[in-house]
Amino acid sequence: MAIQTFLMFFLLAHHSLSLSRSQCHSCEQASCDCSRQNLRRVPGATSEFVIELDLSFNRLRTVMKNDFVAYAGLKSLIMNNNMIKTIQERAFVPLTHLEKLDLSFNSLDTLSAEWFETLYSLLHLNLLGNQYKTLGQGNLFQPLKRLKTLHFGGVYLYSIRLGDFSGLRALEEVTFDGQNLKAYAEGSFRQIGPIKNVTLGLNVPFQTNQALVIAVLSDVVHPDTTLTFTNTFFFRQYQLSPFKLVYSGGTTSVSLKNINITTEAGVALLNILSGTNITKVAFEDVKFLFGDFSDFTCPTMNHLEEIFLKNIEIPMFYGFPGVFGFKCVLKALRRVSVLNSRLFAIPCQSPDDLSQLEYMDISDNMLSDLTLSQMCNGKGSLLNLQTINISRNHLQKIDSWRFRNLDKLNSIDMSGNMLNTMPETCYWPPGLRFLNLSSTHLRKVTTCLPETLQILDVSDNGLTEFNIELPFLTELYISGNKLSFLPEGVLYPRLTSLFIQNNNLQTLSNKTVNDFSNLMSLQAGSNTYICSCDFVAFMSNDFTDHQVTIKDMDKSYICDSPDTMRGKTVLEARLSVFECHTAVAFSFLCLGILAVFLLIAGLCHKFNVAWYMRMTMAWLRAKKKPKLKRGELKYDAFVSYSDMDSGWVEAHLIPALEEAEPPLQLCLHKRDFVPGGWILDNIMDAIEKSHRTLFILSQHFVNSEWCKYELDYTHFRLFDHNDDTVVLILLEPINKDTIPKKFCKLRRVMNSRTYLEWPDNDNQVPMFWQSLRTAIRRPEADDDGNDIHETVNL
Ligand SMILES: *[C@@H]1O[C@H](CO)[C@@H](O)[C@H](O)[C@H]1NC(C)=O
Ligand SMILES: *[C@@H]1O[C@H](CO)[C@@H](O)[C@H](O)[C@H]1NC(C)=O
Ligand SMILES: *[C@@H]1O[C@H](CO)[C@@H](O)[C@H](O)[C@H]1NC(C)=O
Ligand SMILES: *[C@@H]1O[C@H](CO)[C@@H](O)[C@H](O)[C@H]1NC(C)=O
Ligand SMILES: *[C@@H]1O[C@H](CO)[C@@H](O)[C@H](O)[C@H]1NC(C)=O
Ligand SMILES: *[C@@H]1O[C@H](CO)[C@@H](O)[C@H](O)[C@H]1NC(C)=O
Repeated sequence: MAIQTFLMFFLLAHHSLSLSRSQCHSCEQASCDCSRQNLRRVPGATSEFVIELDLSFNRLRTVMKNDFVAYAGLKSLIMNNNMIKTIQERAFVPLTHLEKLDLSFNSLDTLSAEWFETLYSLLHLNLLGNQYKTLGQGNLFQPLKRLKTLHFGGVYLYSIRLGDFSGLRALEEVTFDGQNLKAYAEGSFRQIGPIKNVTLGLNVPFQTNQALVIAVLSDVVHPDTTLTFTNTFFFRQYQLSPFKLVYSGGTTSVSLKNINITTEAGVALLNILSGTNITKVAFEDVKFLFGDFSDFTCPTMNHLEEIFLKNIEIPMFYGFPGVFGFKCVLKALRRVSVLNSRLFAIPCQSPDDLSQLEYMDISDNMLSDLTLSQMCNGKGSLLNLQTINISRNHLQKIDSWRFRNLDKLNSIDMSGNMLNTMPETCYWPPGLRFLNLSSTHLRKVTTCLPETLQILDVSDNGLTEFNIELPFLTELYISGNKLSFLPEGVLYPRLTSLFIQNNNLQTLSNKTVNDFSNLMSLQAGSNTYICSCDFVAFMSNDFTDHQVTIKDMDKSYICDSPDTMRGKTVLEARLSVFECHTAVAFSFLCLGILAVFLLIAGLCHKFNVAWYMRMTMAWLRAKKKPKLKRGELKYDAFVSYSDMDSGWVEAHLIPALEEAEPPLQLCLHKRDFVPGGWILDNIMDAIEKSHRTLFILSQHFVNSEWCKYELDYTHFRLFDHNDDTVVLILLEPINKDTIPKKFCKLRRVMNSRTYLEWPDNDNQVPMFWQSLRTAIRRPEADDDGNDIHETVNL
């Protein structure tokens, strides 16, 4: 019973807990980005395998002791920019694998050593921008034996005490915001040992308490340490006195970041650095304010190898000694970066100047064709230059001449200038391997491009074709142009990577891709693809049999046409058989139609449809004609017979009837038909004008075509008038089954009616003629011309 109650309680507690905790559903695999979701509590875990959890920019106030129970696998926990004031002790206890913890910009007013007790794996900790005044009660970081980077401090921090950093052994980077620091126990930082990168924000101490700055600096300066001063305003010479320590401590690399400095203070700083062994100076986001230049003499920095200047604001930059005043530091320089600082000329007046320079990045400045025309050429300067970046300046010409004598130059970045055109011939340094001409408004490339190139970037121009042979090229960046076809592979036998996104390509095929004999990686998304069957098939190949990998496969291959596919990704596109094999399908369709036609034609032929139609027409015509009156009849009988039977007709029939008394008038096609007329017209005419139609039936007759017409026409008549104008004579016995089906009437007549049979026995012949004559003879016409109904008496 007790156990049950306990279980109930546990379940309820668990239940209510999960009710009050929302869940974050923006997880991809093991990484949950739950930032900016107005969360007030740490969300419940959606899976026990979450490795990264980002809760930044929410409204968390308190971290509860059970919040991370389900997140034991977490390696990265980001909670900056919340309102966290309280973290319950033991809240982080489950996070023994945590490597990164960001609690910056919250409202923590005390720091507790208990939080970190089990964070054995922690490498990176950020506590900047909170409200704590001290670093806990001491030994705060003791368990963090592996910590590499530590960011701490803020507006409220006023005191650093001895022992605050005890336990930190592996620290490589410290960022310390002590802008309002009042007290520093000497030796605190020294306990950690030399730290590679130290960033100090000591604005107020620099202005009011240089001794305190000196105390801090003397603990961190070291020949292996890069010192960065940040978020500080230097306006008086004396403020710079702590920098003397930098000199004596052997520091070789000093940076200023996000600094306001008067020119007077700036001159003082240079004077202090003059004569030191300093090798690198970096100024970033530094704003020079007006002041007094008068003390400026060129500092001697014989060991200075690298200058890095970025986003430097100099009032009246044309008047500042900045460019040419630093002659004396130019001799040993190997690397110079002056970015976005309104640089307008390169200082090199004597052959020694910049003679050691290997790397020069002067992008984002104001250099023009004119100020860059010389490139210190031919005087010894820049002869060691290997890399130059003049991107985003005011150049308007490629003007390769200016680089011609720089034998070691192998990399030029001229991107982002308004070059517009490319000359046909150029004169590049002999070993040029890298050329960046992206975003330079080129519409055409020419043989100006040197054959030595290994990497070429011509992206974001207006190129419509690219077919310059570059036998050593390994990487080609040509995205953002207007190409409709891939470049010809055979021109680039060594190419391994091709970037051709965002052009007007309509298809890719085995052939065009395989023409690049060494291509390994292709990125060709965001083109106007026609999702033809070949293309879809090419894309859905899993490429295991190609050496080419399509790197941007996911969602960037969208069909532009056909209309039914527009907007779908290529892998979603499914095409029907008809779409895929249009030619074959059409052939089949045509064949089908042809077959039906042939079938119909065959059927028509078989059932004599054409003949029937002609017959019907003729019959209709005949029907319109009024039937002749008896007196108008010309013949007594139209004799229909096969030519094969003409012997019998001529030898027996004609003499027996025409020479009888009175003679009967016969119509014989051989004799009485109008020559040249259509046989059917003749037949119909003859039948019209005859009192009787005499069929001489024999096997020949049944086989003979035109006899059939006669018979059929008579069929119609029989059917039409139901009169008895037909007389049948059977010359020989006929197997009725051989009579074609369409002569059904004839069959019926033969079945239903007796017919005259040509006797075998000579004795019966006179009797035969007698019967026939009676059957044919016209009765006397009555005067009205009315038909007298009569039957054939056989
Ligand atoms: C130290 O600073 C240098 C230059 O500022 C930087 O390149 C390097 O990555 C930094 N090292 C660490 C460990 O942060
Ligand atoms: C530098 O001066 C600008 C105004 O010109 C100011 O906004 C900025 O906060 C100053 N920075 C420091 C570090 O003093
Ligand atoms: C500068 O370096 C030289 C050796 O390169 C050394 O003798 C000298 O003491 C150093 N100067 C300072 C101020 O560290
Ligand atoms: C040259 O400078 C531009 C702009 O700063 C940068 O984007 C580009 O990567 C640089 N090129 C090289 C080769 O470093
Ligand atoms: C070429 O320059 C552009 C713009 O400066 C830059 O984004 C690009 O990365 C550079 N290309 C290469 C291959 O470095
Ligand atoms: C494409 O080329 C590969 C290798 O060259 C070959 O195995 C494959 O069958 C080809 N596919 C088509 C559809 O031709």
